[in-house]
Amino acid sequence: MAENVIINSQEIRRLPAGSAFKAFFVVSSIVQKSDKNGKAYYDMTAADSFGTLEAKVWSDAQWLDKSTEQPLSADDRLAPEKIPALAGMTIGVNGKVSDFRGQLQYSFGKITLLNQEKFPPSAYLPHSPVPMEALAARLAALIEGCGGAAGDFIRKVFTGEFLHKFREWPAAVSHHHAYAGGLLEHTVSMAACAKSMAQEMAISGYDIDADIVVAGALLHDIGKLDSYRMTTVPNMTVEGALLDHVAQGYIRFCELAERYGLDEKTKIHLGHIILSHHGMREYGSPVVPATPEALVVSAADELDFKIFCWKDSVKNLTDEQPISPWNNSAQRRFWKK
Ligand SMILES: [Fe+2]
Ligand SMILES: [Fe+2]
Repeated sequence: MAENVIINSQEIRRLPAGSAFKAFFVVSSIVQKSDKNGKAYYDMTAADSFGTLEAKVWSDAQWLDKSTEQPLSADDRLAPEKIPALAGMTIGVNGKVSDFRGQLQYSFGKITLLNQEKFPPSAYLPHSPVPMEALAARLAALIEGCGGAAGDFIRKVFTGEFLHKFREWPAAVSHHHAYAGGLLEHTVSMAACAKSMAQEMAISGYDIDADIVVAGALLHDIGKLDSYRMTTVPNMTVEGALLDHVAQGYIRFCELAERYGLDEKTKIHLGHIILSHHGMREYGSPVVPATPEALVVSAADELDFKIFCWKDSVKNLTDEQPISPWNNSAQRRFWKK
């Protein structure tokens, strides 16, 4: 591949060791480290619409600032104090692929901070691959089809500012659906799956309330509205790190239940689903699912998360290399099929 062609993270991953590349990225995170000689270098996570790339920026890297319209001065080096504040900014990079102990390693030798108006971060960031209108229509259909007190409740909740934020939000900062619209994509997918499961289980003779399942599924991750912050890239809030979305979701739900006068029994049913949806105490739920409705929501949540991990892990694999690298979130390797 010609060295001066600008390529994306997916194409970079296909390059062999020894290759050079040019690319545009948004800095997702940047952490200063020290090498064995005490010299500062950076571990950078760089994002584009195709995914993320972990890259090293060694101490001899060239940092340039072209963020303003000013004509270039002879010295347009980026001031060192600006470097840690690069998260969320669009950069241009010249990089290299090398072999480090049998693994491909990426490094950026030249990093240019670009003009953020000309190169807006949103244009380079991952977003849900499913069109927003399609997701919004599926959400509306799930809400509309939900009956009983639970249905009346979610029709009041999913409106106005709440709905607007819910459509914009990521489902995570890493792991799964970590992009704008990710929370909506994940919620619609797992809620539709949970609804089908509940309906089939009812046909099989189990006493299961599909309205509670759908409402619980739509509400299960509402704590993420408080745990994450959607700046240019998804970020964890202080509250998210210290309280977590399971507890935050329950707090938000209790406020909404109070505001809209939800009856006590439906409140316990839905509150239990929110608190138990991670399935096990070691996965962050203070209680384990104790009702058929909570079991179904928790199972659908885990299934959607794991199948997303499969999709994400195999997307860059070739037919010659069909087994994915270790997926830490799902604790396994996946097969491309
Ligand atoms: Fe969750
Ligand atoms: Fe979830």
